Amino acid sequence: METFVFVWLLLIFFTHLASSLTQDFSFIGFKKASPNLIMSGVTEIASTGAIRLTTDTSRVIGHAFYSLPIRFKPPGQNRALSFSTSFVIAMVPEYVTLGGHGLAFTITPTPNLQGSLSSQYLGILNSSRANVSSHFFAVEFDTVKDLEFEDINDNHVGIDINSLESSASTPAAYFLPNSTKKELFLDSGRVIQAWIDYDSNKKRLDIKLSPLSEKPKLSLLSYNIDLSSVFGDEMYVGFSASTGLLASSHYILGWNFNMSGESLSLSLPSLPRVPRPLKKKKSPGLILGVSLSCSLLVIAGLVAAVMFGIKKVKDEDRVEEWELDFGPHRFSYRELKKATNGFADKELLGSGGFGKVYKGKLPDSEEFVAVKRISHESRQGVREFMSEVSSIGHLRHRNLVQLLGWCRRRQDLLLVYDFMPNGSLDMYLFGETPKVILTWDQRFKIIKGVASALLYLHEGWEQTVIHRDIKAANVLLDGDMNGRVGDFGLAKLYEHGSNPGATRVVGTFGYLAPELTKSGKLTTSTDVYAFGALLLEVACGRRPIETNALPEELVMVDWVWSRWQSGDIRDVVDRRLNSEYDEDEVVMVIKLGLLCSNNSPEVRPTMRQVVMYLEKQFPSPEVVPAPDFLDANDSMCLDDGSGNINAGEFEDFVDSARFYSGPNPTTSSYIFSFGGKAKTDGR
Ligand SMILES: *[C@@H]1O[C@H](CO)[C@@H](O)[C@H](O)[C@H]1NC(C)=O
Ligand SMILES: *[C@@H]1O[C@H](CO)[C@@H](O)[C@H](O)[C@H]1NC(C)=O
Ligand SMILES: *[C@@H]1O[C@H](CO)[C@@H](O)[C@H](O)[C@H]1NC(C)=O
Ligand SMILES: *[C@@H]1O[C@H](CO)[C@@H](O)[C@H](O)[C@H]1NC(C)=O
Repeated sequence: METFVFVWLLLIFFTHLASSLTQDFSFIGFKKASPNLIMSGVTEIASTGAIRLTTDTSRVIGHAFYSLPIRFKPPGQNRALSFSTSFVIAMVPEYVTLGGHGLAFTITPTPNLQGSLSSQYLGILNSSRANVSSHFFAVEFDTVKDLEFEDINDNHVGIDINSLESSASTPAAYFLPNSTKKELFLDSGRVIQAWIDYDSNKKRLDIKLSPLSEKPKLSLLSYNIDLSSVFGDEMYVGFSASTGLLASSHYILGWNFNMSGESLSLSLPSLPRVPRPLKKKKSPGLILGVSLSCSLLVIAGLVAAVMFGIKKVKDEDRVEEWELDFGPHRFSYRELKKATNGFADKELLGSGGFGKVYKGKLPDSEEFVAVKRISHESRQGVREFMSEVSSIGHLRHRNLVQLLGWCRRRQDLLLVYDFMPNGSLDMYLFGETPKVILTWDQRFKIIKGVASALLYLHEGWEQTVIHRDIKAANVLLDGDMNGRVGDFGLAKLYEHGSNPGATRVVGTFGYLAPELTKSGKLTTSTDVYAFGALLLEVACGRRPIETNALPEELVMVDWVWSRWQSGDIRDVVDRRLNSEYDEDEVVMVIKLGLLCSNNSPEVRPTMRQVVMYLEKQFPSPEVVPAPDFLDANDSMCLDDGSGNINAGEFEDFVDSARFYSGPNPTTSSYIFSFGGKAKTDGR
């Protein structure tokens, strides 16, 4: 009997010892100020007991790590041990189906991820590339598709090793007990359990998801990898999340972690509930104190109050129910008015086809922004405006001017963009007195940036986006002189593969593909045509149609082509470059410019091919077919101002010519090449 008690005690003792040596923990909900968690960024414990990694505020990050490091390798051995974890997440988007950016289960050498960025960087990394010495491992639950990291879609699970470009990824889904696979929407606000198991013998990582308590038998993602080189001896485990232009509240409701066996599944009903969405803070009202002792003051006070009230009503932003379904952050009108000093002329950056653009400084963040105010008279109505907002709100690429948000107040429609400190490309190429002459390297970088942005618009997203107004004035330069494509005011979306059909001709004269002016048929190839004009402009430093030029130089494409044929292509290169350029690159750009400017859409390359040429993955094409000459039979002369236009179908054309925002081509005759088949001419 005594022996039995002794053995029993011994057993308890060893079990206890073993469990204090084994590294496992379990959180069923979380306590405020828990010593077991290290939190940073905007992370807090919500009142229900869930970790709120981020609120649905734009561009914030949040981290929560287990406070003790975990030993991932046995002492003296360079072999990663098995681990197993299960946790329950919920992502509640700001607007239904529009949330971002996602969260990641993260294993890093330090819980202090200082210098990491929001948006696509998920609060884990920044734009300086991570590498093998980063010892960074994450499983991302990503709700935004980023081209930069080659994301597969906007609802995926990925394994990230020393990079946010996932080593393996798959659309979020789960398996029913009978092995049926079901789709799962991460940012639906739904509670989702995830299991991550690493088997150090099989060297395999398995990831499972489910909206239920039971662990599915089948893995959603299995990946063979030896984590020995990825892990250091001791690492911190936890979660990181970020928001971008699109925002979700990211929650962790429970978390089991185990180094000594399979992590227990969490029972969903036992977990804290997902907090209700936070009420957005209202700007504090002004309280007017009125002295009753003096009737005069009362009257004055009343008058002031009424006037204040009127002003308030006037400034009130109107939000209709349907607007909430649309994209990104909504700014208040007051905020934007304050940011731009009441839309002062001093802050005017430019006037485009659809309205004026002001420079502003947001009162809260002190961030500089560009505010595009779409004028009342504009034909672009509310619907188009909202479609612009909702479409470009989803687009993100490092060579696009990022839309930060929007605002609507009666007839005033406002879009807020990232401010581009270096202005637009046309000012450098053909401003009267450009501040700086762009070097060839700068020009080539800008071209490559614009090409990759266009490729993204054409192919990188679930819908094809045709920009419709590619021109130097719509290429903006950021602080590092990267080219960024702006002004999607004319962007027209259509589903991949479907026929966009004929639409009104919009765009800018000189960049309009001939088939567009003829049939109004929009294709990605019409953007390629405009891009061709841009390529030639950048190489030659002049406009597509130079009204002040000699007659034979009037139309740039024809002039470049004639020089190309006579073999003195150096003549067309911008003189201001002082012959300092890489000749192979310049020749390639001119060739590509001619190819893209071909009157026949079939001859033009796709943006994918263009990018490959520019990245020198393809040798540039040997043969350049004639872009088709401008001659009396297939050209038209439009006399702007005199009304000498012979058919109603050209009304749109004249309208679009008016959109031309450059200082010069207004009153003289416009000529454009029209119709005609491409003559193929080997060279
Ligand atoms: C990027 O992150 C690394 C590692 O966290 C940090 O050392 C570096 O300072 C960060 N860079 C910037 C520009 O914040
Ligand atoms: C990895 O990146 C760090 C800083 O980002 C750098 O100091 C180091 O040289 C890089 N190592 C390798 C092998 O590229
Ligand atoms: C699996 O189960 C689900 C629901 O329980 C059912 O809808 C589905 O038809 C089943 N599939 C198969 C292949 O049995
Ligand atoms: C860890 O695994 C051991 C062995 O399977 C098990 O007894 C323990 O309950 C697990 N702990 C957690 C938190 O999952």
